[in-house]
Amino acid sequence: MYVCVCHAVSDKTIRKLAYEQGVRDIRGIKKLTPLGLSCGKCVPMAKAILQDANANPLYKEAG
Ligand code: FES
Repeated sequence: MYVCVCHAVSDKTIRKLAYEQGVRDIRGIKKLTPLGLSCGKCVPMAKAILQDANANPLYKEAG
């Protein structure tokens, strides 16, 4: 699903960046994607997904 509708950044993309590139905070996501550059409504959800990805390595297998 899209987390950032304005820039088409999905939850899958956020998890992938966490797992494959070791992104640990929202600043890292913002550096690598346009997430949050427009309305910013996506930022809290993106933070929650990133936190979950970093806390639950089981999801790593599902990619
Ligand atoms: S939904 Fe991400 S900037 Fe608007």
